[in-house]
Amino acid sequence: MNYQEAEKLLAKCSQEHVLKHWKKLNKKEREALLEQIATIDPKSVARCAEALGKGADVPDSSKGKAPKVAVLKGKKLAEARAAGEVELSEGRVAALLVAGGQGSRLGYDGPKGCYEIGPITNAPLFYFHARKILARSIRYGASIPFYVMTSEANNAATVQCFEENDYFGLNPDDVFFFTQGMWPGMSAEGKIILDQPGHIFMSPDGHGGLLAALKRSGALADMKKRGIRSVFFFQVDNPLVEIADPAFIGYHVMNKSEYSLKLCAKRDPKEKVGMPMRFGDTYRMVEYTEMTDEQCNRKDKSGKLYFLYGSPAIHVFDRAFLEREAARPMPLHLAFKKIPYVDEKGALVKPSEPNGYKFEKFIFDILPNAKTATFLAFDPKDEFSPVKNAEGADSPASCKADMQAKWRSWLKECGVTVDESVPVEIDPVYALDAEDLKENGICLGAE
Ligand code: UD1
Repeated sequence: MNYQEAEKLLAKCSQEHVLKHWKKLNKKEREALLEQIATIDPKSVARCAEALGKGADVPDSSKGKAPKVAVLKGKKLAEARAAGEVELSEGRVAALLVAGGQGSRLGYDGPKGCYEIGPITNAPLFYFHARKILARSIRYGASIPFYVMTSEANNAATVQCFEENDYFGLNPDDVFFFTQGMWPGMSAEGKIILDQPGHIFMSPDGHGGLLAALKRSGALADMKKRGIRSVFFFQVDNPLVEIADPAFIGYHVMNKSEYSLKLCAKRDPKEKVGMPMRFGDTYRMVEYTEMTDEQCNRKDKSGKLYFLYGSPAIHVFDRAFLEREAARPMPLHLAFKKIPYVDEKGALVKPSEPNGYKFEKFIFDILPNAKTATFLAFDPKDEFSPVKNAEGADSPASCKADMQAKWRSWLKECGVTVDESVPVEIDPVYALDAEDLKENGICLGAE
């Protein structure tokens, strides 16, 4: 892109000021700025500026009702599992991980997936995800391609982590990294913020940026070429997730669902998880921040929480549904933040109060567009223990304790009781569940 082209593009969305320090920039800075401008989509920028006037694009949660949530047991569970096993054996399942976040709450400076969580081995979060995918593909004799969304900030370090660990045993041809988009920050007046005279302040476009990134990178086309139908989505921070769980996939397929969600009973009424709610014939995810105290604590006739089930962000999507949704714009969520900026003279200012907006898209905003959506309950102690905070709830310590409690329960099923003071860790490729462990045997004290 040259200067004239940049000027023209910026004029389309009334952002000509982005070039106001041009004369002061050296050749390298000019090239870098032109490169940044080339990534801007004038229509999206205009949409962001428009959104400032309207406020957040979120539903009014007060009219929401609790969705009907299935609990699978006995024959129904066996049926769903069998259907999922067919889907897996026929190679129609992909795993999709969103790992572009910054992990700021955890205070970890690097891709969160590289965070060491193995109680004995210190293996990173990526290890547990990748090894589960490998184990599942070995069990069903078909590959499960693994699509990993990163961000500009953590892509190189993520790829390096996989390379240094020989892809944790996965075939590199089955691992597809792709990078999410970045969006410029904006002042309250709808002007793009420069944080250097020749640099636009940009931030990741949220996990909803997934759809555009899947399309742009060719990952969606790759899924189609491989004959993928069911796409298992999960977040990087939860090493307990049962990736490509056959019962969940089977239930999704049997219901001809476009979007299926695993849900778990909230561990406390104000737990920080999203809640899917029904609005007439459609469903929407309502974030915990948008729920009133009254809603969080509301009880049904039997005294149980009315909005009992929260979302651990474990989904299965129909691939064709993702394709359809990738072709339409998604709602925008605004965050008012302190964004460093340069003043008229080009000097850097670090504001003490929020001064600008970041924009994000959330993947669950496509839920209302699903022709069929299904909700399946599971026990959080089996599958949900995210690493979000440095200490307390949802921290590395609580997660390691939950991982070990799960492994200890498998050992118990095999007749071995391990004292809580003894650390436990099981490679998913050795055993994906208690059944595997029974079959493969237990060798106490083994490396
Ligand atoms: C999220 C969900 C919440 C759910 C909870 C379960 C949102 C807004 N809320 O909350 O409904 O109950 O998880 O743990 O998502 N990510 C990207 N790119 C981005 C931003 C995030 O890839 O630009 C990824 C992260 O790497 C992570 C996931 O998205 O894997 C979730 O992000 P995070 O910010 O941790 O979400 P939460 O606020 O914890």
